[in-house]
Amino acid sequence: MIAGNWKMNKTVKETKDFITKLKKHALPKNKDILICPPFTALSKASGLIKGSNIQLGAQNMHYEVAGAFTGEISPLMLKELGCKYVILGHSERRHIFNEDDSLINRKIKAALNLKLKPILCIGETLDQRKKNKTEGIVKSQLLNSLKDIKDISNIILAYEPVWAIGTGINAAPEQAEEIHKMIRTLIKKTYSPKAANDIRILYGGSVKPENIKELMKEQDIDGALVGGASLDTDKFFKLIN
Ligand code: PGA
Repeated sequence: MIAGNWKMNKTVKETKDFITKLKKHALPKNKDILICPPFTALSKASGLIKGSNIQLGAQNMHYEVAGAFTGEISPLMLKELGCKYVILGHSERRHIFNEDDSLINRKIKAALNLKLKPILCIGETLDQRKKNKTEGIVKSQLLNSLKDIKDISNIILAYEPVWAIGTGINAAPEQAEEIHKMIRTLIKKTYSPKAANDIRILYGGSVKPENIKELMKEQDIDGALVGGASLDTDKFFKLIN
């Protein structure tokens, strides 16, 4: 899977230009290609991707289906717009908007209830890595975010070291692989060998056309969640290929 997280970028017009251009390329059928535009562009994007193998995801959601939550967007609204996926627990949500594992856990359950596939993001900060806390942080984020969830077959994981996001400094392939392998082993222990084998673990953090090949060669890296480099159609197409 190659997923583009557009963050707070692209107007409706820019979204239209991006998708129209991307659709002119011959997109491979053997990969899941996903774009996650901002909420305001989802409706337009949904219409434009029809008949292509580009899929649609959102970047966040509330855990309730409806109610008095000013400014929030519900999973039901995302479903209606044709979203299949939703990014949850992105480090920007955790750090700028103070989302914690228990909130993310509620959101994952709500997404699964409505048959939206969560892309759960986890990852350590630079400070935590320097203090040798990476494994502990990733493990606790993963287990707490998945608390009481028995079936993880519709969940996708994204390991995104915070120090690599938007910095231009990606994790070295072997550095990322070490954590991906640890995550898979943890899934095997907590769930089952089948769950561990089936789950997709994406890497995110400064993925670009120049480094994706080396990252994707690693055994436990099953795709990429891409921010900055997903905003340019040509770069995104290169990443897909
Ligand atoms: P980046 O962002 O590719 O710009 O580092 C990745 C992400 O935040 O998902």
